[in-house]
Amino acid sequence: MNVHESEKIAGLLMQLGLEESTDDTADVVVFNTCCIRDNAERKAIGQIGRFKQLKRENPDAVIAVVGCMTQQDGAGLALRKKFPFVDIVLGTANLDKIGDLVADCLATHKKHVEIDTDPKPPIVEGLPYYRTSGCNAWINIMYGCNNFCTYCVVPYVRGRERSRRKEDIIDEFRRALDQGYKEVTLLGQNVNSYGNDRGDGYGFADLLQDLAKFDGDHRIRFMTNHPKDMDDRVIDIVADSPNICNNIHLPIQSGSDKILRLMNRHYTRDDYLATIDKIRAKMPDCGITTDLMVGFPYEEESDFEDTLDIVRRVQYSNAFTFVYSPRRGTPAATMPQVPEEVSRRRIMALIAEQNAITRKLSDAYVGGVYRVLCEDIVEKNGKKQLCGRTESGRMVTFDGGEELVGTFCDIKITRSRSASLFGTKV
Ligand code: 5AD
Ligand code: SF4
Repeated sequence: MNVHESEKIAGLLMQLGLEESTDDTADVVVFNTCCIRDNAERKAIGQIGRFKQLKRENPDAVIAVVGCMTQQDGAGLALRKKFPFVDIVLGTANLDKIGDLVADCLATHKKHVEIDTDPKPPIVEGLPYYRTSGCNAWINIMYGCNNFCTYCVVPYVRGRERSRRKEDIIDEFRRALDQGYKEVTLLGQNVNSYGNDRGDGYGFADLLQDLAKFDGDHRIRFMTNHPKDMDDRVIDIVADSPNICNNIHLPIQSGSDKILRLMNRHYTRDDYLATIDKIRAKMPDCGITTDLMVGFPYEEESDFEDTLDIVRRVQYSNAFTFVYSPRRGTPAATMPQVPEEVSRRRIMALIAEQNAITRKLSDAYVGGVYRVLCEDIVEKNGKKQLCGRTESGRMVTFDGGEELVGTFCDIKITRSRSASLFGTKV
């Protein structure tokens, strides 16, 4: 989401006539921040601090801080106090103003703090994008979240769910294909609740069905899903549409019903496993990935064992694993916290468990031929190779010329290492 938002920021700055800079000596520096976990926030703070020196050397440089971090209670002023050299602090709701504010600041050196706390700010359409993700185009289908999982800061910093008009999404999709993008990833905090706020009965399954009708050699992916809202129609459409990847990211967070209840997730481990069964029944080869958290308040050893058990049962092709990080203003932050060393031990055990599964599933690819969208060139030890992903989302490295970037290639897998696959073009 943030990578895509940075594409929007870049597009707006380029409209001013600015160009991309490849080093720190830029005239305009924008920090697009994240506050989902404490380490994301600390990283942003460290990076912003580094630019104090740049401002000293080039006082005309404009430094802006935007994104989720600015939207937390009192953060706007706190940032200005901690980093007085910052010129612009801009919230998530009015990111579209970045171009105007930077232009004004370049001309007048006036400082700006604009943080809109309206939980349902209007959607601004027609903004320019400077897409930077190779042959993949990100397309936002909705903004915000209504779920209030008790650990999560997103609903507070991103507001309530707002779905884009289907016409605007379909139009952007068509334009991306016309421009030659080979993969489109639909984005939302919970794509499954797309359209609920519009009240016209047109939901995510309908949108997927309409996008699946476009002919041509391209792929559609989407993220992220909420298990409580993942409906059978979406599974059927993914299974039946050759252009929609058999690759589903379904964050479970925890395998313990007690913890899921405390997290306010609205599903049980059995509900979740039933959804997995439905996906596998329709798409045996579907790559299923997830998000997992350890160390949530009240998590006991038996709860953690339940998480390990889910991981063994589902056999995820990959998992993003996190240590719970208390976020100011969220309900879980005031619950009794699990000691750090316990969380650390659990995350290591969880990662080891998932790595073994990933490795085993990778080995099963060896000898097979898979269709890979060639995405990029990678350079290792002075040797240039190509990389891309299978429909199921696995990264494959293989030999070939640069002209293959942006094309589909059939690759025979010859070797695997952890999550990575290696092969040759057939
Ligand atoms: N601490 C740790 N992980 C978190 N996530 C969201 N909030 C927190 C938090 N406070 C994780 C969830 C989510 C992913 C995007 O980030 O697993 O699915
Ligand atoms: Fe956060 Fe996702 Fe829960 Fe929304 S659904 S509150 S974004 S974890």
